[in-house]
Amino acid sequence: MLIVLIGPPGSGKGTQAKRLVDYLQIPHLSTGELLREAIAKDTSLGRLAAQYMDHGRLVPDPLVLAMVGEKLQEPQFSRGCLFDGFPRTLQQARALEESLQQRGTPLDMALELRADEDELIARMLKRAAAERRTDDNPETIAHRMEVFRQQTTPLLDYYRFRELLVTVDAMGTPDEVFDRIKEAIAWVRSKKSVTT
Ligand code: AP5
Ligand code: MG
Repeated sequence: MLIVLIGPPGSGKGTQAKRLVDYLQIPHLSTGELLREAIAKDTSLGRLAAQYMDHGRLVPDPLVLAMVGEKLQEPQFSRGCLFDGFPRTLQQARALEESLQQRGTPLDMALELRADEDELIARMLKRAAAERRTDDNPETIAHRMEVFRQQTTPLLDYYRFRELLVTVDAMGTPDEVFDRIKEAIAWVRSKKSVTT
């Protein structure tokens, strides 16, 4: 399966992706994690990306698309992929659609995780103490939320129009959210078996 996870910062994309890779036996591709790895290794991409990420801004599309394009060449991704935090702009979504079309493997679903902003902020501030992510501070969190609203929410219509969007309530415990996601996947699979 090829699934795109869309959700605001703190909505649980990474948390649910961990569960989903076991459940679906497909690899996980998180652009945020790849970029943080590049920063940790102090590569030229990492140095450039840090200038954006530390302020909660999106890393420019060409950089992200080149990074994802390279990663998708790895043989493990021929089995499917769980995209986490990618695409985040319409340009990224169009580029992904084109590259999947070329491979002859269209996207199966775009899974939106939706939660109240107060809850998202509380989750990230809690994580800030434990993980020390440089973008988990109140000012940068607020900017990440705004960037999501402005640049990523248009993707919801993009995928709705393509009948790929499924929205899941991301409030509640991680297990409760995961149960809802499994239901959504079962629904998408049953719909496919009816139409194919
Ligand atoms: P990215 O790493 O993707 O971060 P994000 O979207 O801001 O989201 P988070 O990773 O903070 O949250 P999440 O939804 O994964 O939630 P999580 O499971 O961790 O991106 C970081 C930056 O990289 C961007 O700002 C941008 O600069 C750059 N970037 C990345 N991709 C890009 C792209 N495609 N284009 C351009 N730039 C890009 O959960 C959060 C916390 O809550 C955790 O502590 C978790 O344990 C807890 N939690 C999770 N679920 C629950 C629950 N149900 N109840 C209680 N706590 C929960
Ligand atoms: Mg994440």
